[in-house]
Amino acid sequence: MQYRTFGRMGWQVSEIGYGMWGMGGWTGSDDDESTSSLNRSVELGCNFFDTAWAYGDGHSEKLLGALLRRNPDKKLYVATKIPPKNRIWPSRREFRLDDDFPPEYILEYVEKSRENIGVDTLDLIQFHVWEDGWASDARWQKAVTELKDRKLVAAVGVSVNRWEPDNCLDTLRTGLIDAVQVIYNIFDQNPEDHLFPLCRELGVAIIARVPFDEGTLTGALTRDTKWPAGDWRNSYFVKENLDASVSRADALRPLIPAGMSMAEMALRFINASPDIATSIPGMRKIKNVEANIATSDGKGLPAELMGKLRAHRWDRTPTYWSQ
Ligand SMILES: NC(=O)c1ccc[n+]([C@@H]2O[C@H](COP(=O)([O-])OP(=O)(O)OC[C@H]3O[C@@H](n4cnc5c(N)ncnc54)[C@H](OP(=O)(O)O)[C@@H]3O)[C@@H](O)[C@H]2O)c1
Repeated sequence: MQYRTFGRMGWQVSEIGYGMWGMGGWTGSDDDESTSSLNRSVELGCNFFDTAWAYGDGHSEKLLGALLRRNPDKKLYVATKIPPKNRIWPSRREFRLDDDFPPEYILEYVEKSRENIGVDTLDLIQFHVWEDGWASDARWQKAVTELKDRKLVAAVGVSVNRWEPDNCLDTLRTGLIDAVQVIYNIFDQNPEDHLFPLCRELGVAIIARVPFDEGTLTGALTRDTKWPAGDWRNSYFVKENLDASVSRADALRPLIPAGMSMAEMALRFINASPDIATSIPGMRKIKNVEANIATSDGKGLPAELMGKLRAHRWDRTPTYWSQ
């Protein structure tokens, strides 16, 4: 495992971190399997874990807490998120700070997450949605300053809404945000335009989320893929999105080097960016943990292939199904 510096916090975090959404609520999750996978990731050097209160109303956070207790001698970085009070993902331009994150509610959810995970200080607390229109609102600024002063959290981050990487730039300029979590993968390259340069300038750490485009970039989806009732992916991969996503994935197939999987190529593409502190693939199976961590070998991808993958950039705008 290779390690990278987590922005101005200076933490040494594993290049491959751990996305813990799936095990909190996607259909097909099994706690025993998730626990074994988490254990294996620690054995292989993973030390950065991204969860959220909303991933099973604290369930994913509790799995992380148990992992910490099984590894008392290791520094494992804990990143979690405060859900929007109105429970609407993503937030919309017309929402007010009071709809999503009134100050007393921010503290309430930090306390819930500390309890679920079982730590005094959360390494990173993130807002699970964000509107840059709230940047200058003194109430969240005061709330996060107090959280840090009281050592309830060490760092504060924003998880930007899907396909809106610029919807946090003024907020980062307040100097109060230490990390940003953004969708960045072979398709979603647009955070490179404005977000990455600003993060570089300010020392804000970048967490690359959704490295496989929720599954498209594993190459496993077909135009007929369906998930069991209740799985959120049915509402994301509506026909319009599934058809387009499968076509885009098929267009990548001729580029995959011999002996490599599409998932491996996808992770290596992300890790080629020196701006990224860590990427957080969602993983519930040990074989996926082992395959994903094996990509962190410092070897990257050939420059010619990187050039070709750049042409597969897919600029998308939020729509009713994108969430
Ligand atoms: N708003 C937000 O803040 C937000 C939104 C979305 C995601 N996130 C964070 O980002 C993380 C990653 O995103 P995600 O989990 O939604 O999607 P993702 O990482 O793009 O895809 C996860 C899927 O890929 C599969 N997979 C993982 N490694 C694989 C491999 N080597 N080969 C084949 N399949 C593989 C997983 O299978 P298994 O699970 O069965 O192993 C899972 O079905 C989340 O877990 C969460 O921590 C945050």
